[in-house]
Amino acid sequence: MKIAATTVASQLLRLPWHTPLEQWTDDLLAALPQGISRHVVRFINLDDRVIAVKEIGEFTAHHEYRMLRDLGRMGAPAVRPLAVITGRKDADGNPLTAALVTEHLQYSLPYRAVFSQQVTPDTVVRLIDSLAVLLVRLHLQGFYWGDVSLSNTLFRRDADAFSAYLVDAETGDLKGSLSDQRRLYDVDVARTNIIGELMDLQAGGLLDCGVDVIDIGTRIEERYTGLWQELTGEESIGLEEAWRVDERIRRLNDLGFDVGELKVTSEDNRVVFRPRVVDAGHHHRQLMRLTGLDVQEQQARRMLNSMQTYRLAAGLENMPLEQVAHRWVSEVFEATISQVPAGLKGKLQDAQIFHEILEHRWYMAEKRRADVSLAEATRSYIDLVLPGHRDEAVYLPTGDDDDTDGAGLDALVDFG
Ligand SMILES: Nc1ncnc2c1ncn2[C@@H]1O[C@H](COP(=O)(O)OP(=O)(O)OP(=O)(O)O)[C@@H](O)[C@H]1O
Ligand SMILES: [Mg+2]
Repeated sequence: MKIAATTVASQLLRLPWHTPLEQWTDDLLAALPQGISRHVVRFINLDDRVIAVKEIGEFTAHHEYRMLRDLGRMGAPAVRPLAVITGRKDADGNPLTAALVTEHLQYSLPYRAVFSQQVTPDTVVRLIDSLAVLLVRLHLQGFYWGDVSLSNTLFRRDADAFSAYLVDAETGDLKGSLSDQRRLYDVDVARTNIIGELMDLQAGGLLDCGVDVIDIGTRIEERYTGLWQELTGEESIGLEEAWRVDERIRRLNDLGFDVGELKVTSEDNRVVFRPRVVDAGHHHRQLMRLTGLDVQEQQARRMLNSMQTYRLAAGLENMPLEQVAHRWVSEVFEATISQVPAGLKGKLQDAQIFHEILEHRWYMAEKRRADVSLAEATRSYIDLVLPGHRDEAVYLPTGDDDDTDGAGLDALVDFG
């Protein structure tokens, strides 16, 4: 018997490889939710982790191991491969199927487990959106999946974010870059499989029969296409063009995606956008956690975007976001608010003023088709917009302000 593994080899040696996986005893098994599959798959408790063992032909096992390993190296969301076991024999010397061992993806749920609780149409939409993000990310890496489906995907909720991970790479192939034809084939397979899987759920009473599954299946196509165009459609953005980074973030926001990460590639200083799917109210909670600022959802979203672009421009990509947030508050947020003359301070809440300055800057940059510094936008806003505001503090004793997006814009001046 041969164990090809990078780590955990000694722990793997103790497992009963001379017995078919189906006969492994309960004391070895970890009871965790598992999706449907053609092959025998079992979760096993090791000392310090849970692994997934799948019995599969030797050639395929090696192929899948390589795919998962390469995807992992590229930082793609996929389960992590640990080992391939070949040359297994039972007590009588009869050959047994080879096995692929992967690390169990913690807190992940197969879609059937997600649906075993009551799910709102909203959750279904988020699952599909996160699968669209996954597919775009894989395609950007040149990975052709070949068998995109809900059952070959694992879903994970990290706080308010929904992430999808690839679990089954058997049919996958890594190309330098993918032809449009292959990409669209993957999308088509996804659509067909999702519709079939949702119909199964309806037949099994797990999904309301009123839900239009064709509609949801088609959503994957639309979301994928929108994202793909947004992420690849234009020539690359250079780091110096901050307003275009901002523009791109806004368009992703408008599509309903959030920017999870902004990165600069080392070769050509291109800015890479990594989208993600988040829950309602996420931005408010995240900003609160990071900075203690208690603001409305839209304000928080803009402020978090500002934090991300600050992080990028200041070259702080490797600094934890908690620390970046701390610096952003003093160097960006408070530095901006401190520019507001005392006489105008009572007009609006600080967070709303900051939010409006960001909006103002955005309109200025759009008009000019060039960068506008925050300092310039702040001066312009203080001179032209803020004086026109009613004194909101006077009649808003709670400090609550629902009109987060529109306020102030009617007072906007035309920079013709
Ligand atoms: N590393 C892992 N972490 C969590 N769950 C896993 C892991 N590996 C496998 N699973 C679970 O086992 C299920 C089956 O795995 P997989 O899709 O690889 O099997 P398969 O037999 O190749 O599937 P198919 O029928 O699509 O060919 C998955 O849907 C998932 O629920
Ligand atoms: Mg599968």
